[in-house]
Amino acid sequence: MEDSRIALPIGTALDRFIKRKQDEFQYASGELSQLLRDIALSGKVVNREINKAGLINIAGPIGTENIQGEEQQKLDVLANIRFTRALTKGGEAAALISEEDEDVTDLNNNGKYVIAIDPLDGSSNIDVNVSIGTIFSVYRRKSPIGTPITKEDVLQKGSEQVAAGYLLYGSSTMLVYTTGHGVNGFTFEASLGEYFLSHPDMCIPKNGKMYSINEGSYNSFPQPVKDYVEHCKSSNLSGRYIGSLVADFHRNLLKGGIYIYPQTASSPNGKLRLMYECNALAFIAEQAGGKASTGIERILDIEPKEYHQRVPLFIGSTNMVEKAESFFKS
Ligand code: AHG
Ligand code: MN
Ligand code: MN
Repeated sequence: MEDSRIALPIGTALDRFIKRKQDEFQYASGELSQLLRDIALSGKVVNREINKAGLINIAGPIGTENIQGEEQQKLDVLANIRFTRALTKGGEAAALISEEDEDVTDLNNNGKYVIAIDPLDGSSNIDVNVSIGTIFSVYRRKSPIGTPITKEDVLQKGSEQVAAGYLLYGSSTMLVYTTGHGVNGFTFEASLGEYFLSHPDMCIPKNGKMYSINEGSYNSFPQPVKDYVEHCKSSNLSGRYIGSLVADFHRNLLKGGIYIYPQTASSPNGKLRLMYECNALAFIAEQAGGKASTGIERILDIEPKEYHQRVPLFIGSTNMVEKAESFFKS
């Protein structure tokens, strides 16, 4: 057995990394490792589909809406199918909830884990060749193995996550994940078909020079958010907003910055979903030394009430999130 305390060098293959890290995990039985491999493999498949968009007829809307009334893109649906299929075959997951599905999908009653997933994030950017992503959270089920999955198995607080991560389909494809022992990033090398450790032990700078928010909605922001945006401008920060949460978050994780999706007139609770987007990124942000809140409350402490619940999100460099929160207090 390799010693898990010795840092693995850049270039280590994902499989080897997962195996070495397995005994850091409280319930090290190999299933979580296999689950992460299943997700990484589906990411390769989705990456391949995305790279073909434009050449074959898989870009554009499919003509249906998801449960939240949002137009579904063909790749949203395709990515949802790919991840669901891989997790069904893998057998480690008992159930899955997805941004694209109305209800829980039961996978394997004997599985120990429950997955929450945004199969394709930033899907309005597919057609224009801009970075998109996949976001996932992993929870341990609460009910006994072999029994039907309950609502309590699925509606767990973010602080209960045992793993979370994202795939970023960008200028290179990356997998970034945490199992609660720091954050590591892997870059996919397509010709070898393998992910390699490229960003070990990722840490977000305490301060950043960038703020990311859709300022087109400025007029309907709550006053504290308007005040914080004015503060960013008078501090000469740069505005950077891709409109793909994964990509905006990833940039801020590397460079330092804050991403905000506040309450607006059209989205009174914010737009982003607690279970599919906010919890996973909040876990990663905290593991990287950053912070995530609604402006008032820590994201990971929110008791979820429903699968598709939305919350405002302030996430990124600790000092920036705290500064934004201070406007809610004053
Ligand atoms: P999704 O494609 O999964 O529905 O998520 C889109 C999200 C997020 O990725 C992005 O930051 C945000 O929506 C952009 O929304 P606006 O266009 O309202 O700024
Ligand atoms: Mn999304
Ligand atoms: Mn999505």
